[in-house]
Amino acid sequence: MFAIEVDNLRKEFVRKEKRGRGLPKRRRRVAAIKGVTFAIERGECVAILGQNGSGKSTLVRLLSTLLLHDGGGARIFGHDVFREQRAVQRLVNRVSVEASFFKKMSAAENLGYAARFYGMTPRMTRDRIPEILTRVGFPAERRNEAMEHLSRGMQQKVALARALLTSPVVLLLDEPTTGLDPRSKQEVQRFIREMRTTHDSTILLCTHDMAEAEILADRVGILDRGELLFLEPVDDVKDRYGVDTLEEAFFAATGRTFEDETEEDKEREVFA
Ligand SMILES: Nc1ncnc2c1ncn2[C@@H]1O[C@H](COP(=O)(O)OP(=O)(O)OP(=O)(O)O)[C@@H](O)[C@H]1O
Ligand SMILES: [Mg+2]
Repeated sequence: MFAIEVDNLRKEFVRKEKRGRGLPKRRRRVAAIKGVTFAIERGECVAILGQNGSGKSTLVRLLSTLLLHDGGGARIFGHDVFREQRAVQRLVNRVSVEASFFKKMSAAENLGYAARFYGMTPRMTRDRIPEILTRVGFPAERRNEAMEHLSRGMQQKVALARALLTSPVVLLLDEPTTGLDPRSKQEVQRFIREMRTTHDSTILLCTHDMAEAEILADRVGILDRGELLFLEPVDDVKDRYGVDTLEEAFFAATGRTFEDETEEDKEREVFA
């Protein structure tokens, strides 16, 4: 059985557009995920690279039951993501830049809440919460401060601590190191490696950072305007395009450099 299995998955969004004064807004359906198929083995770490708007966060939100799909399917350890949401939620933990917290509550309180959601008792987590916050490099003196007073990097560490606390079987990491200073970034990367070795977690990592993908992942894929171009070991990607770096592979695969803006909707429009 695969840890994550995605089969011809599709997601579209409706976008309303202004057309000028007096005219009614036009509604367009824009495909964010266009028939994506892949499978990830238990214990594997897979990185998905893609430009802004390529569909990375949409994929992660679909797999964590936060969005409904428009076609195809997805399974987490055999559980249908769209029919067995509760079972999937217990297996999956998402870490994203837009992590949701109770903003008036502290890091420690937020972790305590999450622990109870996953069926852990306060006794089980009393020592574990401070220990885990320390491990992700969260300063001890700020544990009881309201989340809304923390910087984004700090909040990101709490999001990682929350993922670690519940020992998720599947970790969905949506740009876990974006916005972190170099040292925190390294700490987080070390931590991701540790999750694999000590917890046997399966990891799907979405990132803008090619070096990060290369050092952490067994296989890398490029999501290009909602389409997964490939998903294979870095060396195979380089061989496939006869290049030395992932940047060059990206260029060879898409005809664009990784930093270019995507010409967003032109090729995505499915219906006007
Ligand atoms: N809730 C929404 N409503 C309408 N359109 C959306 C919504 N969420 C995402 N989209 C659109 O879907 C496409 C994919 O967005 P998504 O956030 O998945 O990209 P991404 O790869 O995560 O980008 P980034 O690197 O900037 O985080 C974009 O065109 C985006 O505008
Ligand atoms: Mg995103």
